[in-house]
Amino acid sequence: MTQTHPATALQVRRLAGHIGAEISAIDLSQPLSEDDVAQIRAAMHTHKVVFFRDQHLDHAGHLTLARQFGQPTRRPGAKHGVHPTGYPMILAIDPEAEDARYGRDFEEEYRLKWNTYTAGWHTDLTPAVNPPAASILRAEVIPAFGGDTQWTNLVSAYEGLSPALRDMADGLTAEHAFFAGCQLSDGDPRDREIRALDRAAPQVSIHPVVRIHPQTGERALFLNPASVKRLVGFNPAESHRLLELFFAQIIRPEYTVRFTWQPGSVAFWDNQATAHLAATDLAHLPGVHRTMYRIALLGERPVGPTGFTSEIVSGEPLLAYDEADPT
Ligand code: SIN
Repeated sequence: MTQTHPATALQVRRLAGHIGAEISAIDLSQPLSEDDVAQIRAAMHTHKVVFFRDQHLDHAGHLTLARQFGQPTRRPGAKHGVHPTGYPMILAIDPEAEDARYGRDFEEEYRLKWNTYTAGWHTDLTPAVNPPAASILRAEVIPAFGGDTQWTNLVSAYEGLSPALRDMADGLTAEHAFFAGCQLSDGDPRDREIRALDRAAPQVSIHPVVRIHPQTGERALFLNPASVKRLVGFNPAESHRLLELFFAQIIRPEYTVRFTWQPGSVAFWDNQATAHLAATDLAHLPGVHRTMYRIALLGERPVGPTGFTSEIVSGEPLLAYDEADPT
């Protein structure tokens, strides 16, 4: 029988005006009481991303923690990326591991193909029809400086629009696909290879531009520059200009929080109401080590204010990761 410790008086300290809080006085390596789980979940929904310091989680502990909040999910097969041995549901975020796998500086290579300087802002796995509800990222190896991560509050971004623009956004839908924020060129053999792989098993979905949060009922501007290809129903020039406006809105500095990692730090974010930007300031420095591990939790199809529910263009919904049938 699972032993749980009694409810803890969590300390929640806000970090910025619109988003982010640090939770202390909790040891995430211990089984959490139902009340702790409810308090952490509520804090995550209120503050959109919550941070914990000095946690001592290994892969098994990370997985146990995640399972108290939902069902781990991942992209099937090799598309998941690099994972630690024995833990296929965990994603390793480690430029060195990626370079070993792809045979080159993959992160830097694709950063140089972004359509804009801010195209790294993303919400995890939105090309899937049911993007993860939340993600839990833990830091293992952190450089002496740099490598911060930023999150933005998509509910604040929606609420900060003028009423006329909010009304317009409420009725819109957008196409999400991998590499939407990159320019992949037919003239580049490597890009052709990536495109061919993507086309062999494309993952494309139509989501409402405004998403009603299933738990809080809040409206979020559910767009991100990394994965939104177009607004449905507009010509390309119109779509491009409207998206520029919405993307500028979601990354307005006042809606963001920036977190400086230490080994043992954990971030738990609401993937239904945030976008985030991974570190890009270390790519030019050789020999810098940064190793993070992420577990994504299964989510549902977004629903918009008009009742529009996300639709698949290509690909399959994400599933709860089934250890009995790993692919
Ligand atoms: C992520 O994009 O999920 C990871 C963020 C980071 O590496 O800072």
